[in-house]
Amino acid sequence: MYSEKVMDHFSNPRNVGEIENPDGVGEVGNASCGDIMKIFLKVDNNVITDVKFKTFGCGAAIATSSMVTEMAIGKTIEEALQLSNQAVAEALDGLPAQKMHCSNLAADALHEAIKNYRATHP
Ligand code: FES
Repeated sequence: MYSEKVMDHFSNPRNVGEIENPDGVGEVGNASCGDIMKIFLKVDNNVITDVKFKTFGCGAAIATSSMVTEMAIGKTIEEALQLSNQAVAEALDGLPAQKMHCSNLAADALHEAIKNYRATHP
């Protein structure tokens, strides 16, 4: 049911944790499953230099959080805003249809963190 990449990121999630004094924080939840994801950003010169996450959620939510952190590091704010849930799911070699909402959570949390960064760094 799950790709090897999903299983890898689920069993070995990258960039788990918190960033002290982050430049942006985003938190989203899914009302239907109750899962919550929080993303912390460090930004230097408009480039995302570090991302960490904390996810209270299902295996797919953990795998997509892990993948989104890897995809966002090194991107400019504008490039990271273009990262879609579809792109995250594709990078994991796909997700079962009933688990696509988990990848929404990851992309949304990243976008919320960027919004927070922009609001606090005008
Ligand atoms: Fe809720 Fe996956 S079931 S994020």
